[in-house]
Amino acid sequence: MEKAKAENFDWPNLGFNYYDLPYSFHAEYKDGKWDEGKLTSDSTIKMSEAANVLHYGQEAFEGLKAYRRKDGGVNLFRPDMNAKRLHNSAERLLMAPFPEDRFVEAVKMVVKANQNFVPPYGSGATLYIRPFIIGTGEVIGVHPADKFQFHILVTPVGPYYKGGMKPTEYVTSPYDRAAHGGTGQSKVSGNYAASLLPGSLAHKNGYSDVVYLDPRLHENIEELGGANFFGITKDGKFKTPKSPSILPSITKKSLLQIADSFGMEPEETTISIYDLDQFSEAGAMGTAAVISPVGSITHNGNKHVFYSETEVGSYTQKLYDRLSGIQDGDQKGPDGWQVDVPLK
Ligand code: PLP
Ligand code: COI
Repeated sequence: MEKAKAENFDWPNLGFNYYDLPYSFHAEYKDGKWDEGKLTSDSTIKMSEAANVLHYGQEAFEGLKAYRRKDGGVNLFRPDMNAKRLHNSAERLLMAPFPEDRFVEAVKMVVKANQNFVPPYGSGATLYIRPFIIGTGEVIGVHPADKFQFHILVTPVGPYYKGGMKPTEYVTSPYDRAAHGGTGQSKVSGNYAASLLPGSLAHKNGYSDVVYLDPRLHENIEELGGANFFGITKDGKFKTPKSPSILPSITKKSLLQIADSFGMEPEETTISIYDLDQFSEAGAMGTAAVISPVGSITHNGNKHVFYSETEVGSYTQKLYDRLSGIQDGDQKGPDGWQVDVPLK
């Protein structure tokens, strides 16, 4: 793939795709420690054919974004939370965690190096940042690796769900994403490998994404393929599923706090697929998804329409305006939510 050129991007019409940008970050772990790491223009990875990641899936990743502010500067949104979650995911797969303070510094370094690719303020696009750790040590039996690599790639993106702030359709699946006691709480590639088949069946049938149900009863909503789920009750309360097998979303944590500040009495609780009538609005929330309205959920052939199939509801819009206002730097957020990336 050729290296991308900033002048070739049509920022307002970007999809969610990979482009090969000038710089990535690369660090290596061996003999019990991480090296200093460095920026590199090599976007390929060399490893042994017996690397653990290729056979037994030692891989954990993160997703965060860099946002262009009105004054031309660039903000990250709560990157310390991504550092911490990557640490937890790495520990779950017996990989060496990358030090959390160095994670944030490395993210700043790679954003600064690719600063011409942080899309303009107001374009609706952002620079997506994908840090990941892989087990590169050689194995043939099922054992953890003793060598790891940490990389950060960045790529400019538009909306993850095609409608953006237009409601789209979702569908439940007979497949499970993750088991209770499995790796659902970790951001690891195996969870997404398991979601490819149900996800592609949903897309083929015109749905934006899958609504996964709990793996025991197939009754309670877990989350979507690439985002957590929320519903707004008819009396304006914010509810989101509680489960041991969903990803602890940083956007969700932030929206719980924002909803509380709006007096929406946020709650993490069991949400039955048979009790959707309680909601007047519903949405997807995540770094890539931001907030995307869920227009309808189809379960066993029955389609449940929330607020509207074409219009976004007022609570969803209000939550979106506050969240994206903070992310874009237009509104002041709680302490530590907005982290400036020095560009000089
Ligand atoms: N759930 C899944 C399965 C995801 O892939 C993501 C994306 O990271 C989320 C939820 C949302 O998490 P966050 O808000 O931390 O991006
Ligand atoms: C993210 O929101 O960062 C994710 O990792 C979701 C992914 C499906 C693109």
